[in-house]
Amino acid sequence: MTDVGDVTGFYGRRAALYDRIATAPGIERWRRAAARRTASAGDTVVEMGCGTGANLPYLRERVGSTGRVVGIDLTGPLLDRGRERAAGCANVSVVRGDATAPPVAEADAVLATFVCGLLEDPGGVVDRWCDLVGPGGRVVLLDASASDDPRGRLLNPFFRAFVAAGAPTGGLRDVLCAPFGGVSGALSRRVGAARATLTDRTAERRYGEFGLGFVGLTAGTVRDGAID
Ligand SMILES: C[S@@+](CC[C@H](N)C(=O)[O-])C[C@H]1O[C@@H](n2cnc3c(N)ncnc32)[C@H](O)[C@@H]1O
Repeated sequence: MTDVGDVTGFYGRRAALYDRIATAPGIERWRRAAARRTASAGDTVVEMGCGTGANLPYLRERVGSTGRVVGIDLTGPLLDRGRERAAGCANVSVVRGDATAPPVAEADAVLATFVCGLLEDPGGVVDRWCDLVGPGGRVVLLDASASDDPRGRLLNPFFRAFVAAGAPTGGLRDVLCAPFGGVSGALSRRVGAARATLTDRTAERRYGEFGLGFVGLTAGTVRDGAID
C-alpha cells in the first residue's frame, strides 16, 4: 500500500478519474474548511501530496496575492492536472517531490488531504511537517477513516470495501475480505498515528467532521516545545 512505485503507478493510471472524484460535488465544502484552517493572507502554504490540485484554488483564495502556495506530489500525471489548475496564478506552483522529505526550506502552514493513510510512518512525517513550519505554524490534516457516527457506523462495511477497491495494492480478495477489516484497518491506524502526533505537537486545535463521520479534519498550531 505504501511503496512509492505502487502509489505513483496506481494514481498515475487513474489521473482523470481521480480528478473527477477529487472535485465531486460536496467535497468542495471539506476542502474550503481545510483551506480556512490552514491559510491566512500573506502566508506561504505547502500542500503535501497535492494530487491534481483540487485544494489549490481555495488555498490561493486564502493567501491572497501576497502569499504563496506550493503543491508537492510524486505522481506525474496528477501533477500535470495540478499545473493546469495553477496556470495563470503567479504565486501558485506545483513541484514533483516526496512529502516525507519535502524540498522546501520554510513555510507558515502545511496541508495534507487524504495522504496520511498512504504513508509508511505517518507519525514521523507529521513530526517533520511540524518542524518545517516551526512554533506558531499550522499543520492541517484531512483524512478518511471508519466512522464512529451512529449512522456512519452502519456503512462501515461499505466504506471498507471502497477503501480496499481504491488501495494502490488492493485486489479482489482484499475487497471481498474488506468488511472484516483489512486495508481499511491499516488506513485507520495510519490516520490515527498522524492525528496523534499532530495532537502531541500542537495547541489551539480545531476539529471538523464531514460525510457521516468518514472524513475528519484536525488542525493545530505548533507549540514551542512546552506542554499543552
Ligand atoms: C488520495 S490522493 C489525495 C490527493 C489530494 N491531496 C486530494 O485531496 O485530492 C493521495 C496523493 O498523495 C500522493 N502521495 C502519496 N505519497 C506521497 C509522498 N510520499 N510524497 C508526495 N506525494 C505522495 C499521491 O501521489 C496522491 O496524489
